Amino acid sequence: MFTFSNMDNNLRSRNWFGKTGKDGFIYRAWMKNQGIPSYEFDGRPVIGICNTWSELTPCNAHFRELAESVKRGIYEAGGFPVEFPVMSLGETLIKPTAMLYRNLVSMDVEESIRANPMDGVVLLCGCDKTTPALVMGACSVNIPAIVVSGGPMLTGKYRGKDIGTSDIWRFSEAVRAGKMTNEELVVTEACMARSRGHCAVMGTASTMACMVESLGLSLPENAAIPAADSRRKVLAQMSGLRIVEMVRENLRPSDILTRKAFENAIKVNAAIGGSTNFVLHLLAIAGRIGVELSITDFDKYSQDIPLIANLQPSGLYFMEDLYYAGGLPAVMKEIETLLHTDCITVSGKSVSENIAGAECFNREVIATAAEPFNTISGIVVLKGNVCEEGAVLKPSAASKHLLKHTGRAIVFEDIEDYKKRIDDPNLDVDENSVMVLKNVGPKGYPGMPEVGNMGLPKKLLEKGVSDMVRISDGRMSGTGFGTVVLHVSPEAAAGGTLSVIEDGDLITLDVAKRLLHVDVSAEVLEKRKQQKALTQNVFTRGYVSLYTGHVQQAHLGADFDFLKGASGSEVTRDSH
Ligand code: FES
Repeated sequence: MFTFSNMDNNLRSRNWFGKTGKDGFIYRAWMKNQGIPSYEFDGRPVIGICNTWSELTPCNAHFRELAESVKRGIYEAGGFPVEFPVMSLGETLIKPTAMLYRNLVSMDVEESIRANPMDGVVLLCGCDKTTPALVMGACSVNIPAIVVSGGPMLTGKYRGKDIGTSDIWRFSEAVRAGKMTNEELVVTEACMARSRGHCAVMGTASTMACMVESLGLSLPENAAIPAADSRRKVLAQMSGLRIVEMVRENLRPSDILTRKAFENAIKVNAAIGGSTNFVLHLLAIAGRIGVELSITDFDKYSQDIPLIANLQPSGLYFMEDLYYAGGLPAVMKEIETLLHTDCITVSGKSVSENIAGAECFNREVIATAAEPFNTISGIVVLKGNVCEEGAVLKPSAASKHLLKHTGRAIVFEDIEDYKKRIDDPNLDVDENSVMVLKNVGPKGYPGMPEVGNMGLPKKLLEKGVSDMVRISDGRMSGTGFGTVVLHVSPEAAAGGTLSVIEDGDLITLDVAKRLLHVDVSAEVLEKRKQQKALTQNVFTRGYVSLYTGHVQQAHLGADFDFLKGASGSEVTRDSH
């Protein structure tokens, strides 16, 4: 009989596979119908591979192959891999928005891990929401966990130019302005999406991959290796190898995700020009692992961080370029003195050890901290009577001349109202107007869709206007850009001031003062609130009723109120 030298009877999985009699028989026998030999159950660490593979999530469609590499590493280290599916969230196909289901997937992940015989878990993450959902779920169980991201697509190529997801907004405005044909637009589809992987710019998926690397939840280099690069598979195998060691070391998410690790992630996000969605997801993850983090921390720890990664949508280049320039370790090395380098990571090493050998190979892509490619970085948190609990703006993706601006509000009550009227030649709007979109928040839509960077009125596009101040309680794709105020909290559907802003109200955005103010007295605003019936969707059944009943506001991360914290990994009752 094969015996395993590292047999450990204290493993969590022994509560299943280590049992004798009827229970042990049932736990093992049905696994054996997959052709698994007896010795796999001898006490080796059982590692779950949480797979978000789906052909409906194109960014993650290569994950079965990636899982095979993870398995090789797990076997190599003496573990027993078990791959399992969870609901997958693809940004491009899911209606009304993938964000509606982030919390649902986190529950799927949490319960799947806890209920099954796992000692550690590898989280296969790619398209935007798959990363926070899996990390949130894993944190609420807190067994050893490591993230393997799917990697970005190769840079798109169109007529000799590099293109990526951020060009969708440019192309669609060009079509509306009559500068590009619909036929040309169709040609660009395949030119942009020419390989496996997620969006190739510093959109939300790349931001999330950088987030897990900077938090210490993935091996170094995880964020930027292209999906199509063979080294992505090597990283997956190394992660499989490492998770087995992590189980033996009992290195859990709560050991890694300290307050300092969150501060590091905020600083790195500022240095790379990461997505505004980062705020929502990091707040939700902190809530699960029990670290106090507030929306104002994002502003506080972003300040004085130079924007050094010259990546779209804030800059010029793509994730592939970032990898060839040295990847995220080279970015972190450049701002090393600003980071907590003693934080421990899944590699078993500290941040400082992980980045010790990091080098930059292209200063066009990763600038120096002394000479950043943009002195404006990070995510600004605004306060004022429009957003008592906060709102966010990404200054590096905004127009400098609009960072201090006062204009008349042009108000859209909901997304349908916006779509109906935006191209009306009689719309009373000019380039100084402030576009306000209501009822696209967590409860209002519901699910907080990425519509905050609403397209400009056609008649202004034709005049050559390329940016205006836009305000909403919704989100923006990480690939989007513009002077766009997002995540207004409280949202309109929760009775926030946003709900009673009217056409013609004067709104001031002053980024330097962190101010978003409507020039209407508190008395008048209060009177309007009393007179206005809230636009409220009432859902009486199904998941959406659970969502609208329990989702928290954006400044708290839009997690469910009852999911904050963790329930741990213990299961006290058997199934038989
Ligand atoms: Fe999946 Fe952009 S659509 S990452």
